[in-house]
Amino acid sequence: MTDQELVQRAIDMEERAYAPYSHFPVGAALLCEDGTVFTGCNVENAAYGSSICAERTALVKAVSEGRRTDFAALAVAGRGEDYCWPCGACRQMLYEFAPRLRILAVRGDGAWQEVELSQLLLHGFGPEQLGEKE
Ligand code: THU
Repeated sequence: MTDQELVQRAIDMEERAYAPYSHFPVGAALLCEDGTVFTGCNVENAAYGSSICAERTALVKAVSEGRRTDFAALAVAGRGEDYCWPCGACRQMLYEFAPRLRILAVRGDGAWQEVELSQLLLHGFGPEQLGEKE
């Protein structure tokens, strides 16, 4: 799958967003090394703090389907003028499973920028800090 195709999967997921409070639909598409894609959207809640972002929706879908490793890239798309960078909570959640993940942040006109997750979460706290992983 090309980056352009992954970005389009994220953009398509904006339609599924449930964002009646922020009116800020977000879509995400998480690509595995074997080509599998897990998608997500933000799902808000009347108790605002119970909302979940698009990226974490995609990630928990993947993990709950048995995937924990070999994530290659994540595209996240919003409709704003600025690139839709993952929030702090999403950076942390993703770091647990893929500190070197390629992040493609997409803005409303379809343009995107790419950075590695470890650049978005410098000196991130991960399983290795707890002696859990190499
Ligand atoms: N949101 C995401 O889903 N991902 C991001 O990267 C940024 C923020 C959601 C959370 C909330 O539903 C809405 O966008 C406004 O913050």
